[in-house]
Amino acid sequence: MTAEALAGAAYLVAALLFILSLAGLSKHETSRGGVNFGIAGMALAIVATVWMMVVEGGFDSPEVMTGLAIMVGAMVIGAAIGLWRARVVEMTGMPELIALLHSFVGAAAVLVGWNGAFDDAVPAALVDIHHAEVFIGVFIGGVTLTGSIVAFLKLSGRMSSKPLVLPGKNILNIGALVLFIALTVWYVITPALWLLVLVTALALALGWHLVASIGGGDMPVVVSMLNSYSGWAAAAAGFLLNNDLLIITGALVGSSGAYLSYIMCKAMNRSFFSVIAGGFGIEAPKSGDEEEMGEHREVDAATVAEMLANASSVVITPGYGMAVAQAQHGVADLARRLRERGVEVRFGVHPVAGRLPGHMNVLLAEAKVPYDIVLEMDEINDDLASTSVVLVIGANDTVNPAAAEDPSSPIAGMPVLRVWEAENVIVFKRSMASGYAGVQNPLFFRENAQMLFGDAKDRVEDILKVL
Ligand code: TAP
Repeated sequence: MTAEALAGAAYLVAALLFILSLAGLSKHETSRGGVNFGIAGMALAIVATVWMMVVEGGFDSPEVMTGLAIMVGAMVIGAAIGLWRARVVEMTGMPELIALLHSFVGAAAVLVGWNGAFDDAVPAALVDIHHAEVFIGVFIGGVTLTGSIVAFLKLSGRMSSKPLVLPGKNILNIGALVLFIALTVWYVITPALWLLVLVTALALALGWHLVASIGGGDMPVVVSMLNSYSGWAAAAAGFLLNNDLLIITGALVGSSGAYLSYIMCKAMNRSFFSVIAGGFGIEAPKSGDEEEMGEHREVDAATVAEMLANASSVVITPGYGMAVAQAQHGVADLARRLRERGVEVRFGVHPVAGRLPGHMNVLLAEAKVPYDIVLEMDEINDDLASTSVVLVIGANDTVNPAAAEDPSSPIAGMPVLRVWEAENVIVFKRSMASGYAGVQNPLFFRENAQMLFGDAKDRVEDILKVL
């Protein structure tokens, strides 16, 4: 068997391992196995690629050995940085880390494209296709690169989560796409370097604009969409490098990311097309003015403890603030204590509460809250009207009535937990600041709502002391 055939066989096995990995990752119980399949597939792919490079080039070729040394050195540095980041990252910092990693795939695709543009060993019959591959690869990579950087900046709070609304933004996006198609045709006919420079700049600007135009509430969809783009960027690089495994892997990531974006859009009642087109059709948001909403009322921990002790049913709706405060253990204790007193306690979890899909479920599982009292939004929503007390622990956008009641709100139409229907609502947060989407929450000003200000963990502990 030739070196190439052997590497091809190894690639096929690696591709199967990646498919098994995706299948494993789709369920909570099998996700660890899924990660292990992914690691095994990637290790096999790296070994096969390096081995093929060395066997084809010859062990005695100084050029191959230098390439190998550079590659191993880069891998060691990259692996060390990756291990360090993965170990120190907080759970709340995961989405921004993922966004940053997507930007690296975009950068790699741009570099591979530029490298491909200077490849003069392409057979004459394939030259046109090669030029198209270069151009498309650079374009997808460029959009992914800056789009992911903006997502990183927004998710890490370094840039406002409010959508950028440039005049004629939809025309700008469509114009950029039309220009890209025209430039591709031009480049295939006359592959001039300035065209490549132009498409790189166009892609970088478009990526930036597309993601900057999307509001904070829609960021979960953006992260999965950029995941998809990074897959297509990798597939484009695979075509240029003539590497089948990279094409397969890129297509797997691209299509699974696209499907995840679609599921997220359905869960959040958003138009898939509108989100991928940078908020196409979404008007400039009018966030509610705090003064117009009236007065809010404050409450102290002792009063809340008394209210809970006398309640017949309690629903706890956690959000990003619970993750920031690391209040999940105290919240789990509170639930246990109340249940011991005969109060019915359940949790209502919104699909995009926190900053990661499943973020709240992971925290509650870590604090050993029994699975059977943790309900999804659709399972709990109809019971909220007959609930004595709802505790909103660091949640904001996911319990905002404006989503259901105000068609001009930037989060209008997004399904939310209808906590305002309960008899009493206690909101745990530190101030009157808005949630991630940058929209004020009319819930805080309702007759049946009271604010318990302070760090959620401290306030929960105060309640536990009284109970
Ligand atoms: P958010 O709307 O983000 O609000 C969290 C609230 O927690 C804030 O209003 C904040 O108010 C409060 N808070 C922060 N630290 C706190 C602390 N130490 N103690 C008490 N409260 C604290 O939360 P949410 O309801 O979970 O909604 C999630 C949002 O993130 C949605 O807009 C969603 O679209 C977006 N998003 C979600 C994801 C995924 S996949 N889940 C990914 C990206 C973005 P104070 O500052 O006043 O305390």
